[in-house]
Amino acid sequence: MDSLPDQTRSNSRIIAAYRAHTPGSEELARQAAALFPSGITHDARQLDPYGIYVQRAQGPHKWDVDGNRYIDYFGGHGALLLVHNNATVAAAVQAAYADGTQFGANHPREIAWARAVKRLVPSAELVRFTSSGTEATLMAVRLARAFTGRETLLRFQGHFHGWQDHMTSGYSNHFDGSPTPGVLPGVAEKSILVPPNDLDAVRNALVNSGDIAAVILEPTGSSFGQVPISGEFVRALRQLTEEHGALLILDEVVTGFRASPGGAQVAFGVRPDLSTFAKILAGGLPGAAVAGRGDVLELLDFNVTARRGKEKIQHPGTFNANPVSAASGTAALTIIAETDACDRASATAASLRDALNEMLAAEGAPWAVYGTYSGFHTFFNPTGRSVQRGFDPTKCSMEELKTQPKELVNKLRLALLVNGVDVGGRIGGFLSCTHTADDVAQTAAAFREAVRMLKQEGELG
Ligand SMILES: Cc1ncc(COP(=O)(O)O)c(C=O)c1O
Repeated sequence: MDSLPDQTRSNSRIIAAYRAHTPGSEELARQAAALFPSGITHDARQLDPYGIYVQRAQGPHKWDVDGNRYIDYFGGHGALLLVHNNATVAAAVQAAYADGTQFGANHPREIAWARAVKRLVPSAELVRFTSSGTEATLMAVRLARAFTGRETLLRFQGHFHGWQDHMTSGYSNHFDGSPTPGVLPGVAEKSILVPPNDLDAVRNALVNSGDIAAVILEPTGSSFGQVPISGEFVRALRQLTEEHGALLILDEVVTGFRASPGGAQVAFGVRPDLSTFAKILAGGLPGAAVAGRGDVLELLDFNVTARRGKEKIQHPGTFNANPVSAASGTAALTIIAETDACDRASATAASLRDALNEMLAAEGAPWAVYGTYSGFHTFFNPTGRSVQRGFDPTKCSMEELKTQPKELVNKLRLALLVNGVDVGGRIGGFLSCTHTADDVAQTAAAFREAVRMLKQEGELG
């Protein structure tokens, strides 16, 4: 068991300011250190010396146990487009909870939820709910292998599809496809990893392997477009996979119901064979789905497989389509279908990206903020590019876009928290349809203050 990390003993003024700002969180972090590895319950919540402990949230804001308010760009790891405590979603959840959370039986709310998905996603001929995005990608891969009779997966370096065994190498390390700790070599070797945006590498793998069951990707690029992928590339993948008898799986766990109400596939005009959804799908509660071609999902069907003389793919799961998540998801997806929630979030994100770039230029910080739809990312410019006259991430390699100075980024996050802004670990995040122009202005001011704190500490040269 470890106590809090060394930075608690650092003489950094930023760390001192953070600790003075968050004594209640520090106390809880001390307790958590004895309970959880690293004191945390999700790798992305790791922060030195400790992360904030949040008490409650409303709209785009959340408050920690010390009463500090933050403008929230963590967005529940991307699960929230309507953000915290939407009144309609909350009422639907309360009604469902009052009716009972687990019937061990079919229930009407799962039908409404699947219909809400089908209303927005034309490729969703059939739907199967799971409890997490990780389970959804696991099932998508199993379906693809069973349907095609092939074993190998084609994946892209840097793309994340959850933490299940078939997907662990190549996300943040092991780009050669070698197994990560605890994963069997035989499992890892059934993935071919290619660089993002490299159509020739995809074509070669499809031709040379002859065993590709599916190509799976995050359709706007890894980490919600941190390394962007164009619609043109995804459309080319659609054609190539069709030509070579492989399935195309779009992992829309993040982009689903966000890039457009129908996800990136509708924005790009691509019809995948299978899609995976989670996060916004369940309106802020746990829940996920694999959806797509009827003839593929029918491998889960008792009668159809029996008729075809095939062995059915088994799929239990205690909380599949649980009624509270179903109610939450149906309410959220209905709002997304019937309002301009996606467009509003994207428009506010564009204005935030502009405001932050203006601020960075004014402060002489050699970084850039970029992104698509309702996301933003920070480019830390490891190769010293000139970013003053606009920054084009499509000209950069994955390494360049993903390289982040670890200590500086950690201090930047702390400085932002001290100034009332919570961003994701890569200094980026998710906008919602409830963030306002005022939130954008306050965020730019907080960022400016954080950059100045870094300068005072000699972190910006
Ligand atoms: C693109 C993508 N796929 C899959 C997952 C896994 O989803 P979950 O965290 O619900 O298991 C995530 C999670 O962040 C994701 O971003």
